[in-house]
Amino acid sequence: MKNPIRAVITGASGGIGEDFARLLAARKTNLFLVARRKEQLEALALSLQSEFKVEVEMLSLDLSLPDASEILFREATKNGNEVDFLINNAGIGPWKKFIDVSLDDHKKIMQLNMVTLTASTHLFVKHMVTHKKPSVVLNVASVAAFQPAPRFTVYSPSKMYVKLFSEILSEELKETNVRISCLCPGGTATDYMANNNQTLKGFNPLMTSEKVARIGLEGALRGKTVIIPGFINKLFAFFPRFIPTKWNVQIAGWGMDLAVRETDSRS
Ligand SMILES: NC(=O)c1ccc[n+]([C@@H]2O[C@H](COP(=O)([O-])OP(=O)(O)OC[C@H]3O[C@@H](n4cnc5c(N)ncnc54)[C@H](OP(=O)(O)O)[C@@H]3O)[C@@H](O)[C@H]2O)c1
Repeated sequence: MKNPIRAVITGASGGIGEDFARLLAARKTNLFLVARRKEQLEALALSLQSEFKVEVEMLSLDLSLPDASEILFREATKNGNEVDFLINNAGIGPWKKFIDVSLDDHKKIMQLNMVTLTASTHLFVKHMVTHKKPSVVLNVASVAAFQPAPRFTVYSPSKMYVKLFSEILSEELKETNVRISCLCPGGTATDYMANNNQTLKGFNPLMTSEKVARIGLEGALRGKTVIIPGFINKLFAFFPRFIPTKWNVQIAGWGMDLAVRETDSRS
């Protein structure tokens, strides 16, 4: 696929999602942007419209609500609008121990990272298969999909789900017009890291969100199924497969303790 015609991007009000929007607008792709923060979406839409002369629509929506995907699909495809690119980017995961996160917040993580992503993929893939134009769904997971880690007790399995779901669906849809890709970033300099008070300086330097989004976009448009940006992240994704899960979790736990101590001592 060369350039998508109309893309839906979730979590577009900041971070990697905002960079997906900029990169796609530069390719003259019309956009439908979704997140909760309306002002950020409006400012981004105005700036992309004036800089790149593309159509940008936006929807302020909490994607952790049970019927969010149906609302998103209905709004993005109203008036007969066709969508040929979906980026399921919105995702959350606090760097906290399991019992230090409320049950409500655990439910929101699972709903947003897995349920909404799956439901949106279902609705848009059926739409794409029907309109028959070359189409792509890009799901954003994490290197945490390869490396289970304490403090990512629910986040890490949720991203494992996203990666495996994408790989299986990619195989199922290989004879159709729809390609499925999964981007697995490592530490990336966004609000997600800042909000969790993480910089991981000296341990694994953070990548810029622009670079992560660009590698993700190019990989997805080339039809790559699993995309891991950055050499160190590729190592993080490669080695755990040779080590028993119990040891992997222990090693990742030491890494997380170190990262948390390092940032705590700086704050
Ligand atoms: N940054 C990293 O180091 C890193 C590493 C690996 C994977 N990832 C993954 O990359 C993706 C993007 O992360 P990021 O670092 O760019 O995060 P970010 O800067 O925190 O941005 C997250 C985006 O998701 C939106 N969002 C969050 N909760 C939402 C909800 N309930 N409903 C609708 N939108 C919601 C946010 O917008 P509103 O607040 O306006 O709703 C924002 O636009 C996530 O899936 C994350 O798991 C990030």
